[in-house]
Amino acid sequence: MVQKQVSVIVIGAGNRGSIYSKYAKICPDKMKVVGVAEAREARLNRMVAEYDIPQEHAFKSWKDLAAAEKFADAVIISTLDPTHCEIALAMADKKYNILLEKPMAVTLEDCIKIHEAAERNGIIFAVCHVLRYTPHYTELKKIIDSGALGEIYNVQHVEDIGNTHFSHSFVRGNWALEQDSSFSLMTKCIHDVDLINWFMSGAKCTKISSFGHLSHFKKENKPAAAKSATRCMDCDYERSCPYSAKKIYLEPAEQGETGWPIEVITNVVDIENVTKALEEGPYGRCAYECDNDVCDNQVVNFEFEGGKTATLTMIAFTKNLCVRKTRIYGSLGELVSDGDNEITVFDFLSKKTTVIHPNDMEEYKMYYNLYGHGGGDFGIISHFVDSIIHNDPSINRSGSLDALKSHVYTFAAEQSRLTETIVSPSKLMNI
Ligand SMILES: NC(=O)c1ccc[n+]([C@@H]2O[C@H](COP(=O)([O-])OP(=O)(O)OC[C@H]3O[C@@H](n4cnc5c(N)ncnc54)[C@H](O)[C@@H]3O)[C@@H](O)[C@H]2O)c1
Repeated sequence: MVQKQVSVIVIGAGNRGSIYSKYAKICPDKMKVVGVAEAREARLNRMVAEYDIPQEHAFKSWKDLAAAEKFADAVIISTLDPTHCEIALAMADKKYNILLEKPMAVTLEDCIKIHEAAERNGIIFAVCHVLRYTPHYTELKKIIDSGALGEIYNVQHVEDIGNTHFSHSFVRGNWALEQDSSFSLMTKCIHDVDLINWFMSGAKCTKISSFGHLSHFKKENKPAAAKSATRCMDCDYERSCPYSAKKIYLEPAEQGETGWPIEVITNVVDIENVTKALEEGPYGRCAYECDNDVCDNQVVNFEFEGGKTATLTMIAFTKNLCVRKTRIYGSLGELVSDGDNEITVFDFLSKKTTVIHPNDMEEYKMYYNLYGHGGGDFGIISHFVDSIIHNDPSINRSGSLDALKSHVYTFAAEQSRLTETIVSPSKLMNI
């Protein structure tokens, strides 16, 4: 039998859209990029050239694509957060299968609308909760589902964001201002809330409380020696500052680096363009002189039915970059995850410790052909494509209903933080 090749259109060919597109090069028998909608000309042209996309299928805006006849099996929506809802609704109603970047949308009402549109149109739909697809968490979840830990009573989960990652994305970058995207628990840790939801295997969260602040990246914490400088290029203190934009972008570029985060600040990475971006663009601003307002540290407490609990800590001030650490406590065993390549399980009955290294397993070899999220980027796009090939939504692990549940918990946590009250997610939505 000849296998179906899934045709996709990428909407928003920035960082995320480009990564998912590469799957077409790794598995050309399974996926082909046949169209693109991208507002920036250089990116649009790059996609057209890279994937040999006909000019009539290259659009400057997703609205032009929405106005055209349907010409592919699926769309990948990887524009910025506030645009997700409008695009997802339009594409769902055109019966495109959809891979939607997280967060689903920036209001709960919009998340619900997207879920309803996916159901109404009977499409294959997945939210990019990429961690559900990494070798690490795939194996971890298998252990939970095997019953080896017994009944899960508590999960402790920490996300180390990374000090300069935070300054790049959440102080100077796209996710610095809540009004431009959403609060940081949503834009950064929706993945982590989603993991906790997934680990709890269907148990309903009954209560949530949360505390969090923007503690550090604000004007009153600007080192005195930085004086009135508003850009690192003009700052006397720059050599002593870990958040120096010269250290984060220019010096690595001088060493020949071209990847993230340097590629984000300019279309063409060379010394001249990076220098100009630091002199004139948002990424050259002093990290204490930005208009950022999202939390740099936050904790969330969850109570689940059956007297189960979980805690989540989101913290900017870490050496690790986007590394999660998790401890899961069950009635029959305890699991420790380094979020990367080691899962340790202690069995209470046999008193035996078992250690596994998921990234070394043969079955996941392919996953590292696509850079990103510990193999999760490869995992999600390959599962999405397979679910279309086999017309089987159950191949997806992050369908709209489960994703919606994680979003409800995240909105409830933020409501708790803002109102200083304990919030029942069911008050937001009975899910
Ligand atoms: N799953 C994850 O772990 C993960 C990680 C990072 C980012 N994200 C999410 O992915 C999404 C994209 O993030 P990114 O880092 O790729 O951003 P990006 O800025 O690199 O890419 C977004 C692209 O959308 C384009 N665009 C904007 N308006 C458009 C329009 N009207 N029509 C067509 N294109 C348009 C922009 O020009 C840009 O190229 C965001 O929602 C973000 O929150 C998810």
